[in-house]
Amino acid sequence: MGSRRSRSGSPPPAKRFRLEQEVSEASDTPSKRVSYRNGAFLAPMVRSGTLPSRLLALKYGADLVWGPEVVDRAIIGCERVIDGDWVISYEKNGRLIWSTHPIEKPYLVYQIGSANPQFAVQAALTVIHDVSAVDLNCGCPKPFSTHAGMGANLLYTPDLLCEILSSLRSAIPSYIPVTAKIRLLPDANDTLKLVERIVKTGISALTVHCRTKDMRKTEEAHVHRLGAIVDFVNQLGEGIPVIENGDCTSREDGSRIKERTGRVEWAVVFIWSHISLGVDSVMIATAAERNLSCFANGPLLDAETVLSPTYLSLARYLKNPWGNSKHCVSQFTSPSPVNGRAGLKAFKDKLGKAKGYLDFDEEIGGTPDGKVIMDEIKDILRRRTATALEALEPCEPAFTEASARIASVFVTPPQSPVTAAVQSTA
Ligand SMILES: Cc1cc2nc3c(=O)[nH]c(=O)nc-3n(C[C@H](O)[C@H](O)[C@H](O)COP(=O)(O)O)c2cc1C
Repeated sequence: MGSRRSRSGSPPPAKRFRLEQEVSEASDTPSKRVSYRNGAFLAPMVRSGTLPSRLLALKYGADLVWGPEVVDRAIIGCERVIDGDWVISYEKNGRLIWSTHPIEKPYLVYQIGSANPQFAVQAALTVIHDVSAVDLNCGCPKPFSTHAGMGANLLYTPDLLCEILSSLRSAIPSYIPVTAKIRLLPDANDTLKLVERIVKTGISALTVHCRTKDMRKTEEAHVHRLGAIVDFVNQLGEGIPVIENGDCTSREDGSRIKERTGRVEWAVVFIWSHISLGVDSVMIATAAERNLSCFANGPLLDAETVLSPTYLSLARYLKNPWGNSKHCVSQFTSPSPVNGRAGLKAFKDKLGKAKGYLDFDEEIGGTPDGKVIMDEIKDILRRRTATALEALEPCEPAFTEASARIASVFVTPPQSPVTAAVQSTA
């Protein structure tokens, strides 16, 4: 992904150990803490789904965030490094492969690219303490993925696909959900047969990107095919949520998709009916890449004067590689109501010339303080976690206790993680 700059302010090893122990213990909770129901999720996106994008998606209302696909062998053998504000980086030969922050952990799904059950398990175990769920990419049609048998090619090697999922399911702790993201097969019955096999591996949710391997991303997604898949999965009786992916543009649009994929059939009025409420959740990629505020209930944020400065400021604070931040910001599309398209174009021209965060500051002027934004995100997630805890039934003490630890250790401002670690060793 790129290389990191300086690493300052790392906590001393003893405190670090204590915090890592807290992370590990907080992981020991039932899978119920990851809910795949009634949500709008950030899709996995190579390059565009890095840490600042995920944190902002959560800030604006995404219920869960998928990390970008990381190929199994890339993460295996990485060194895990903790930076100043607890950014956790997985690095190999000085290169940053993947990064995360403990505050996103309750909402973070790690996506694996793999065509090998052993490597997939090793990859999952490498990051298991930093994520809440593991997903297998069975939908990427790009040659770099398919040539090695990964991604969408797994749809055509179902034995291997299912072996990877089963191996993950039996090797990683049962409280960590394993999920799969697939594409449609050209034939509807073939798709259902594949779905049945996948569901039987013990997955906790299934995402269906409603395009086939050969469809281009500019072609309209075949959302009309999803209703039959939802019905079918419901009939299998495993209670597996189905997540729609393809052309969803916002949370509101997600409600329309849910309606579109549900149905009510009356065979004999008042005697027999079949009701399907449609997909459980939606997953958004392109629309989020263009504007991360698509998860909010309301108009999109202006990319020129609000979203981009916020992004760059947060990314600088997190020491996200400049090239990646520049790429992500360059994808934003919503013009400001005052400056219009010309304003956005002028902003992007300036961005194009900038060589780093400091250059950007010189050319465009100051941006809001990244720490303030990070604290705001921590506060939002702390409140969200607290609300989730209140909604829990009293019969789940282990979950409640461990989740409370996540809330207090990682997301309670103004207490910094370092302070929390010091207190927990007292
Ligand atoms: C920039 C970009 C990167 C992507 N990277 C991944 C990936 O790492 N893993 C994956 O399963 N899909 C990946 N996809 C596919 C999306 O997750 C999603 O399935 C697809 O874009 C359809 O959703 P949409 O219509 O909302 O864009 C990527 C898509 C985009 C635009």
